Amino acid sequence: VSPPVERVVVVGTGSFGQRRGEALARRGVSVAFVSRDLERARAATARLGGPVAEASTDLARALAWGEAVFVATPPACHSEPVLAAARAGRPVLVEKPVEATLARARALEAALGASARLVTVAENFHFLSALASLEELRASAGPLVYAEVVVHRKRAPAGWRREGPLAGGGVLADVGIHYVHLLRVLLGDLVLERAPVSARLGSIETAIALAGRSACGARFTLDLSWAASRNRSRVLLVGERRRVHFRVGKRWIWRATRGGLPTGVTRVGADALGHEALLDDWLGASARGEPGQVTLARGIADLALVDAAYAASPHPYPPPQAGEGGTAL
Ligand SMILES: NC(=O)c1ccc[n+]([C@@H]2O[C@H](COP(=O)([O-])OP(=O)(O)OC[C@H]3O[C@@H](n4cnc5c(N)ncnc54)[C@H](OP(=O)(O)O)[C@@H]3O)[C@@H](O)[C@H]2O)c1
Repeated sequence: VSPPVERVVVVGTGSFGQRRGEALARRGVSVAFVSRDLERARAATARLGGPVAEASTDLARALAWGEAVFVATPPACHSEPVLAAARAGRPVLVEKPVEATLARARALEAALGASARLVTVAENFHFLSALASLEELRASAGPLVYAEVVVHRKRAPAGWRREGPLAGGGVLADVGIHYVHLLRVLLGDLVLERAPVSARLGSIETAIALAGRSACGARFTLDLSWAASRNRSRVLLVGERRRVHFRVGKRWIWRATRGGLPTGVTRVGADALGHEALLDDWLGASARGEPGQVTLARGIADLALVDAAYAASPHPYPPPQAGEGGTAL
């Protein structure tokens, strides 16, 4: 059976370009890479059995071959290839966050105009396998009154994630935006009340704790750190009658009474991080000429909460200028 989209151009030969490239190739999709370096583009394309002659440093050239485009560069480099691909009429999957800042994401949306409907955001937390079970558990847990997320790592990742202008921020822009999306799926629109930053590394924040409430009155906290004494990761959801907790990426949801007395576990589906469902959604939607479930507007709405948190604790660096490590719109 041939895949719904047969030829995909992947921009960026880094970890997620390669990872989703492999997942596309497993589905029978032919993949060619665009890179800043021709040899890297050729090597990455050859590794996936793709058409090496189509590997390029020039997206415009690759678009003559590709039916769809996946953009996997640092956030401040997203707009340029997304615009070029969408203006050429190709469906685009762009990694999260949509752009380095909300202002840049909104400028991209304005520049896209009607072509914005060709853009899908690669927010895999929309497809976590736990979400299906959570929907079922919700009936017994009762309406949610509190959601608490803790994600702690001992150190910040290396490379562009430590460069504020390229990444758009630190632990919140990189990891936290996934959980912002998850909280918005679970609770609806969120209103931020505070977001103190407690650690910085150069131009990025490495510890920040958001707190606020949802439009329906549930409270939430999102405690993120790349400067913790130990690794932790937990999502706790407290309903009027019961509570559940789980770790994103693991196969178990732990159920308990409202007071915390354990009552059992629920096993969730194998695609715990939602990466496979995300690609299936995008490929299917692209073949139908529709955006995937996480539209550009939804990705921008997630970024708006990140922006509100940074506005409460201002960025220590100016926005990127052309030629300063980001691409100016
Ligand atoms: N959904 C998820 O779970 C998830 C997980 C990880 C990352 N991501 C997202 O995926 C995107 C890429 O992340 P990654 O982990 O794949 O990063 P990465 O391994 O560093 O790869 C990024 C690639 O972008 C290209 N690039 C273009 N301009 C660059 C610049 N100025 N500096 C550095 N690289 C540049 C490079 O490819 P060439 O050298 O070939 O040009 C580089 O290999 C980001 O938006 C990130 O947030 C998403």
